Amino acid sequence: MTSQTIRLTQTVKGAGCAAKLSPGDLDRALCGLDLPVDPNLLVGLDRADDAGVYRVSDDLALVQTIDFFPPMVDDPYSFGQIAAANALSDVYAMGGTPKTAMNIVAFPAKTMDLSVLRLVIEGGLDKMREAGVVLVGGHTVEDSELKYGLSVTGYIHPDRILTKRNLQCGDCLVLTKPIGTGIIATAIKAGLADQGVTERVTAAMATLNRAAAAIMQDFSVHACTDITGFGFLGHLAEMTVDSGYGVRIKAAQVPVYPEALEWAAMGLIPAGAYNNRSFRGSFVEFGAEVSQRMQDLLFDPQTSGGLLIAVAPGDAEQLVHALRTGGVEAAAIVGEVVAGPIDRIIVE
Ligand code: CO
Ligand code: CO
Ligand code: CO
Repeated sequence: MTSQTIRLTQTVKGAGCAAKLSPGDLDRALCGLDLPVDPNLLVGLDRADDAGVYRVSDDLALVQTIDFFPPMVDDPYSFGQIAAANALSDVYAMGGTPKTAMNIVAFPAKTMDLSVLRLVIEGGLDKMREAGVVLVGGHTVEDSELKYGLSVTGYIHPDRILTKRNLQCGDCLVLTKPIGTGIIATAIKAGLADQGVTERVTAAMATLNRAAAAIMQDFSVHACTDITGFGFLGHLAEMTVDSGYGVRIKAAQVPVYPEALEWAAMGLIPAGAYNNRSFRGSFVEFGAEVSQRMQDLLFDPQTSGGLLIAVAPGDAEQLVHALRTGGVEAAAIVGEVVAGPIDRIIVE
């Protein structure tokens, strides 16, 4: 198959971040292992965050992350762009600046033309150029399915690390991209998505979280993460559990792709959404007014989703305004941090 005739989503089992190992399985595999202890390891596996952070000096730390996955769109160049934007996103979510990257590639050389690989890497390179990131190397293995992503290193000041772990009572929660990309990728794979929605969602997934991350630096942001494979509620649960607070979400204010709601009602839901729900569903309480399809969307695994930002209530409206005028048009306040019930997410 050449790059002209191929539909990448037909060549793989999973798609994008939905191909992640289920979070419960990962916990079971890592549980009880002897993890490294080092005074300069500021963020490591023991308190898993978007990226690891290692202090080099009093005013410099390295932010390091890796992400790679099988294609969720058919076009190789777009897939490269999306995989790169997704991998860079974890550095932005920590408040860091990505500097260098390495390609990580699995390629089915026996069944796929090398021109496909060239286009994937070209898409990745273009995103890295846009982000001001220098490609320093890479590693390619032959495999039965195409997978692509980046290992990324960035800079951050050790005193200005944004983690998932610092919610404060009264904070507003701001989301910067619509949700539903997992369901839409399922529709693309099934051949149900028309060109319009495919192009719109492809462009959104390929959009860097760089602008949103730069804008939030000017506001009292307490915590941040990016929405990827665990879905909106899975990543929100990581922020909420053990925070000492609860969270209330207004479902009607969460930006969504309307097509994803329609397809969710038809049952086009990726397996990852069910995994996310069984792992984190016990922390979530849905009001009677929240439809089943909206619940499915809230657990839908996202590829290269937006930032979820906890910001001081007095700054929230201005942050959303700055994001929207800065090109992050979907940005919206979706909920707030409340005194209780502790560790619970109430969706109403
Ligand atoms: Co992340
Ligand atoms: Co990630
Ligand atoms: Co973070």
